[in-house]
Amino acid sequence: MKLPHSPWAEAGGDFAIGLRPIPEADWLEGGEADPAARKDPLIAACPEIVWGETPGSWDAQAEALALVAKVRGSQSGEAGLPPLLAAARRVSDDLCLMEQREGVWRLTALSLCAPSFFTAQDALGKSLAELHGPVDGFAARFGGRLERIFSGLRPGLILERRNWTVVNTDALFTPDSAPIRAQISRIAPEAAGRVLHLRVERQTLRRLPFTGGALFTIRIWRAPLETLEQDPERFVAFARAWRGATAEFRNYKGFASYDALVEAYIRARGESYSVNEV
Ligand code: HEM
Repeated sequence: MKLPHSPWAEAGGDFAIGLRPIPEADWLEGGEADPAARKDPLIAACPEIVWGETPGSWDAQAEALALVAKVRGSQSGEAGLPPLLAAARRVSDDLCLMEQREGVWRLTALSLCAPSFFTAQDALGKSLAELHGPVDGFAARFGGRLERIFSGLRPGLILERRNWTVVNTDALFTPDSAPIRAQISRIAPEAAGRVLHLRVERQTLRRLPFTGGALFTIRIWRAPLETLEQDPERFVAFARAWRGATAEFRNYKGFASYDALVEAYIRARGESYSVNEV
């Protein structure tokens, strides 16, 4: 499958805010017949990894559910569920509710069934600054701007951003990087294009006009590295982004442990795309 997004072609190998407005019709990307069938077993097996809510968040949760119901319709059999959880069962996306608490934007509820190396338990209740603490250089480069974006978000405006990384799994549910990274040394260079995957997060942000909260959605897309070969421009853009990534970006995403494999892959295919001199 070809990925619907190629963020490495836009931002290259650097962190970026990269928010752009999108029409309401494009808010959530579908394509998964029954998200609840994937999410329910996780909610039953490890609720603390995939779900969290703080007291006082149900009004904003209900507002988020109403927005989802508008695009996905209502469903029965959800009585008693926290509203954000009911909303998350209807969509592929993970849903994160941000609200101001004593003047600080905090994560007051979330459903996180496709986590990229964090858990609901880790994230619940954290401020924007605390959530982004692990991202090298984030506070200095983006901290103030992010606060202003959340506080200034106009009702009706929907913003989208994408990010990317490379990982050696196609799993959606990856709360912990350690068991995945432990497998890297077993990957043969010839298998890199098949075993390594591009992992793209497509995120959206919109205001909840009545409660004043903000709903942040995260949709994960992934595809084997070798799918880049379906599109020479994408392949070339990826090779450039990989080789030109900043030290902070490489360090944060753990690219050093994939370097030999990705380079082997690019070099093996690169002659046909003239990227080996990049
Ligand atoms: C739309 C506003 C936001 C922007 C511009 C933004 C930006 C970023 C950036 C640049 C990164 C580094 C990885 C990357 O995306 O390249 C990141 C990571 C992250 N962001 Fe955000 N973010 C936003 C909102 C949020 C929200 C609302 C949450 C709440 C769940 C969140 C949670 C995280 C987490 C957990 C990480 C990974 C940190 C880690 O490695 O532990 N972000 N964000």
